[in-house]
Amino acid sequence: MSISTLRGIVSRVMPTRKPHATPVTATRVDYAKIAATAEEKAAAFQHPKGKNTARERLNMLLDADSFVEIGQFAGGNPATGFLGAAVVTGFGEIAGRQVAVYAQDFSVRGGTLGRAEGQKILALMDKALAMKIPIISMLDSGGARIQEGVIALSQYGRIFKKTCEASGLIPQISMILGPSAGGAVYAPALTDFIIMTKENSHMFVTGPEVVKAVTGENVSMNELGGGELHNFQSGVAHYLADDEVDAIDYVRSLLSYLPSNCDELPPSYTYTPSVEDEKAAAEVQALVPEDSRKPYDVVEVIEHLVDYGEFLEISQGFATSIVIGFACINGSAVGIVADQPNHNAGTLDVDASEKAARFVRCCDAYGIPIVTLVDVPGYRPGTEQEQAGIIRRGAKLIYAYANATTPMVTIILRKAYGGAYIVMGSKSIGADFAFAWPDAEIAVMGAEGAVNILHRREIKAAGPNEKDMNQARQRLADEYQANVINPALSVEEGELDGIIDPVLTRQTIAESLEILRTKDRSHPGPKRHSNGPL
Ligand code: HXC
Repeated sequence: MSISTLRGIVSRVMPTRKPHATPVTATRVDYAKIAATAEEKAAAFQHPKGKNTARERLNMLLDADSFVEIGQFAGGNPATGFLGAAVVTGFGEIAGRQVAVYAQDFSVRGGTLGRAEGQKILALMDKALAMKIPIISMLDSGGARIQEGVIALSQYGRIFKKTCEASGLIPQISMILGPSAGGAVYAPALTDFIIMTKENSHMFVTGPEVVKAVTGENVSMNELGGGELHNFQSGVAHYLADDEVDAIDYVRSLLSYLPSNCDELPPSYTYTPSVEDEKAAAEVQALVPEDSRKPYDVVEVIEHLVDYGEFLEISQGFATSIVIGFACINGSAVGIVADQPNHNAGTLDVDASEKAARFVRCCDAYGIPIVTLVDVPGYRPGTEQEQAGIIRRGAKLIYAYANATTPMVTIILRKAYGGAYIVMGSKSIGADFAFAWPDAEIAVMGAEGAVNILHRREIKAAGPNEKDMNQARQRLADEYQANVINPALSVEEGELDGIIDPVLTRQTIAESLEILRTKDRSHPGPKRHSNGPL
């Protein structure tokens, strides 16, 4: 159904425009006046707190004049002073593409969710599923409406279930623009992306009052569930916006890389090759130090390889040893996963594994090709990581890549050691094509560790003098470095499709993706679903 058709339907049910459709009541209700009063009340409530009203937010998010509200007065009862439900629902356009939207209205009973709000949101979600369009939610709510008890809780249950039903079928993006309290945080947690703002945005399962009562801990709203916490520590959120305008800007950008549903091809744009992009791509090698232990910023590398240097990073502040985000190559959207040598030498830890795994799953769900840039010394070793569950949580990344059927191209920029080499989009785990730069180091482990295991007796025999033993160790390490740590074996074994001149990295990625454009993504074998390490 097009927006204009819908607009027709909406205007047909608007009693002020078609008097015969007015419900039969003793006194005729002036709905236009009610709407104006509600918005005035909302503005008076929100503006002093530096927050916009639900309708203002929707108008900022959507293309000009594209918002069509549905169920505007549902759940209201003018006789009791409630002018509508605590959520505004409808449809609109973002960059000309249809989306379903809902925005909670904190000025009505703290934006809480009861029967009417649940019905409105669920009806909207049903329509979005039928139309196969993304859902964007703007949350600002005290959670389940206490007075409605189990009715409110069950509505959350239904929203959770429908969010799961929609997951992977249509993109779902949550913007937290006020409190998101109680079990209500799980509705956004089940969506693809969560955007928070620096001020006024909070997510917690139990608020400060409950925490104090139960544990005696005195904690502020920000400490418990502020935007910084969820972007830098917990990893719950994917972007920390300066304010509502910035949050909206990010969501519009994010959507420009996502198809409207899993059956659509990812977005592509007209791209005219530019001298700037060619120059940037040619400079990429200079950004990566030869010494494989020296750090560098892989984001700069990414920006040199993608169209117009535009990279939309996701979860920038969390698990910083890995970088994820969207960009375009020759006009087509791609997801990028890259080790970040600038942070913890780019090692894979529990958080980095989960961050990348979720992103790979997201790209795969929506058919967005994945480009993996590898420079990884391995999984991070030590008791801290083992206790944190690196086996269970690291397995998520293997699971994500191994099950992905979207086109995947991997470039090994510098080093790729051990399990981390396999996990980071190797051919054996499922990449369609993999290439390496000429000086790439690929091996089970680095030279130092390897000679201590392989040549323990030989090194000991060179002793007892420590200096002689060190000399023997160095000689053996040099031999290992020259003979084992290079991409030759990988090329001979077919684990790499080629050694490429770094200057040709962008071109190689672009050509590979072009070849993979018609890749068959059908899954083999019938089963209900696999049982991965969730
Ligand atoms: C009913 C609520 C409410 C709620 C807020 N209000 N939360 N009404 N049910 N859950 C009402 C307030 O009474 C107030 O009404 C109005 O909303 C605005 O709230 P204030 O407290 O004045 O606003 P503020 O100071 O900004 O604080 C906002 C808040 C706080 C942080 C959200 O209200 C709060 O902590 N609320 C409870 C949050 C919570 O614990 N929710 C969990 C619910 S259980 P008046 O009439 O005075 O304007 C849940 C489980 C879901 O969500 C389960 C899913 C499985």
